[in-house]
Amino acid sequence: MTFNPGQNALMPTYKKWPVTFVSGSGSYLIDTAGKKYLDFLSGIAVCSLGHCHPKVTEALVDQANTLWHVSNLFGNEIAPKVAHELDLLIRSGYVDTPGKVFFTNSGAEANECAFKLARLFGGRRRHVVLSAYGSFHGRTLATLHATGQPEKHEPFWPLPEGFSHIAFNDFQALENAIRGEVAALIIEPTQGEGGVVVPEPGYLRQVRKICSEMGILMIADEVQTGLGRMGTWFRCHVEDVVPDIVTVAKSLGNGMPIGACWARAEIADLFSPGDHGSTFGGQPLATSAALATLAELKAIDAPRRALQYGKILRDNLAGLDGVLDISGDGLLLGVKVGSNSAPKVAENALEKGLIVNPVRPDVIRMAPPLNISESEIAEAVSRFSESLKESLAENG
Ligand SMILES: Cc1ncc(COP(=O)(O)O)c(C=O)c1O
Repeated sequence: MTFNPGQNALMPTYKKWPVTFVSGSGSYLIDTAGKKYLDFLSGIAVCSLGHCHPKVTEALVDQANTLWHVSNLFGNEIAPKVAHELDLLIRSGYVDTPGKVFFTNSGAEANECAFKLARLFGGRRRHVVLSAYGSFHGRTLATLHATGQPEKHEPFWPLPEGFSHIAFNDFQALENAIRGEVAALIIEPTQGEGGVVVPEPGYLRQVRKICSEMGILMIADEVQTGLGRMGTWFRCHVEDVVPDIVTVAKSLGNGMPIGACWARAEIADLFSPGDHGSTFGGQPLATSAALATLAELKAIDAPRRALQYGKILRDNLAGLDGVLDISGDGLLLGVKVGSNSAPKVAENALEKGLIVNPVRPDVIRMAPPLNISESEIAEAVSRFSESLKESLAENG
């Protein structure tokens, strides 16, 4: 346990593991005691290029010596470039007409932007956004209500009106729920916090079809699944689907806080000046990190890498004693272990210098950097195997 003066000055919102990190490089983190950890969580799918990636750091340092911030009342040279790159990746040849981007500082804010667009789209008549049980969309009051986990709502009622939940992976439930007041559906194409839950093949395509036929917006929350991690630039692309709105954050800045809400142009143009804004959204430091991150993700062909190395990781994990199942795609995997044993397995792993996340009582989430090497995977699997063995021995 490392003592950190000032720890008690932080609000008690996080259940923290007793480790404090001081530096990071590539796939490794170093704690205050000098212990080295292999990071198979990447700040929860954020540092897709590993820690302190030299190209992102260089871009950030250059920008820090040039211009930190200007208000969105004026232009900066970088935000439009990132918007253009993101637009190309989201459309990926599926859609001809360019869309438009609003920059935020986080995933929740990207979703808030999407909800405001949905309100404009629906007019005063239609305002309800549907979302799936088990989903996670953020911690602001609106995104909390969209999050399909009623136990998280409980302490915070009354929540903003206009959200309703349906079963995930059940397009009939969606069809039945679309009534007069519904303007949009927000969906994680694979549920991350929900335990890396992948819908049946065909579900996303069916959702796209229903949304189009019923005249509601399809919003894909790709905050966790986007930008190559799942073997395609965006998880919706697996089924050749491009939603009306796509939200992105996490890995966009490889650790610099930045999010984005992309929308088809005719939806984006529902906004007029003054309808939405953010002091920091799209500012030069954050967008310079994003521009360098996108360039490097493209240079390493992130989706192909995620598929190739995801398969190696998956194949190696599949043979381990104590692994009951593996969900996910590419390098976002949910490793099913015995009931209630995920926290203990993760704790054992941490002791052995491997960071993984017990996202559910029986599921360990793994999201290593996309430029992970084969030898790092072998090292992680060996530490994970030992952690599982210990947990199995403890449980008799
Ligand atoms: C799918 C999804 N949407 C939204 C969010 C919220 O993002 P942020 O924490 O940046 O607000 C998260 C965060 O984990 C997420 O996984």
